[in-house]
Amino acid sequence: MTEASAPGKLILCGEHAVVYGRPAIAVPLASVRARAVVEGAPPGTGVSFEAPDLGRSWSLAGAPDDPFSQLATTVLDRLAPGRALDLRVTLSSAIPLASGMGSGAAIATALVRALAAHLGVMLPPEEVSALVYTSERRFHGTPSGIDNTVVALERPVWFQRSNDQRPTTNDQREAPPTDTAEITGDQRSSFVVRRSSNPAQQAVIEPIAIGAPLTLLVGDTGVRSETRLPVGEVRRRREADPARYEALFNAVGAVAARAREALAAGDLAALGGLLDENHALLRAIGVSSPELDQLVSAARAAGALGAKLSGAGWGGVMLALVGRGTRERVRAALLAAGAVRVIETEVPAG
Ligand code: PMV
Repeated sequence: MTEASAPGKLILCGEHAVVYGRPAIAVPLASVRARAVVEGAPPGTGVSFEAPDLGRSWSLAGAPDDPFSQLATTVLDRLAPGRALDLRVTLSSAIPLASGMGSGAAIATALVRALAAHLGVMLPPEEVSALVYTSERRFHGTPSGIDNTVVALERPVWFQRSNDQRPTTNDQREAPPTDTAEITGDQRSSFVVRRSSNPAQQAVIEPIAIGAPLTLLVGDTGVRSETRLPVGEVRRRREADPARYEALFNAVGAVAARAREALAAGDLAALGGLLDENHALLRAIGVSSPELDQLVSAARAAGALGAKLSGAGWGGVMLALVGRGTRERVRAALLAAGAVRVIETEVPAG
């Protein structure tokens, strides 16, 4: 039996604009994880999946088009070509689905890690990320790639994809990526992961410095919203009014750049102000919701240093940056304002 896990993720700033080539910052959400267990199965039974948290069980042969089936097929074809394997895969997750915490990317990452480990292969994180990206595309259509990156690398990252891959119309999608990743540059400070044979489809991924530990409270609205819905609506609005949306995306990108400096300096007060600015821009982009706004306001009123929605929006979660003295007050305020759960996470300095 082989078990592997992967964390959830939070986008600290830059969501949506990141789809259009602006930088974003994401951190792993270490306190909630997805798990995959791979065990041998009786000969001739093939590969089967149990996913109690998704309320599903299926076989690879019976549902070959399921995104997790497709991901498993890609991994097995790559790591055990020509072998007919009999495996029982159990997928579970403590990360609420469709909530902006990267549940899909985390389950996919755990699956890739567990299959590879079961086959005795150590896949580098960049390669795991590239494989998971293929699966994210099946769920979302045009993901920026930030979710799979931060979940597979499990460290705070600065992420900026090439401008050349900004989606412009519904049918003008990127070419399918290859399932290999190649790292160039200095792996310890800055590197580029190429996910595609097309050089235009690249992302710059840089580990970022965290000058002082961060405590984040994640307030869940309990409203489930599929990522592709707000992402599709933002695409339509940008097509209708490119000048307005390009200006908003530029402003978000500038916030991300300043947030990176504040993080490096350990300036939590400055970072809090930037989170607030980012939320105002996300409201202007049209991806907040009354529930998210209510939690953000409640967190600020209770003394949070800053608060914003996190992820695709229209539901899902918000995050609040809190100091030691305000943590419990902000948690209570979030629950009183309607949060169905509050998750706490620490981002260590480093
Ligand atoms: O999957 P979510 O809800 O965390 O949102 C992902 C962030 C977006 O920028 C909205 C989309 C993307 O692909 O980057």
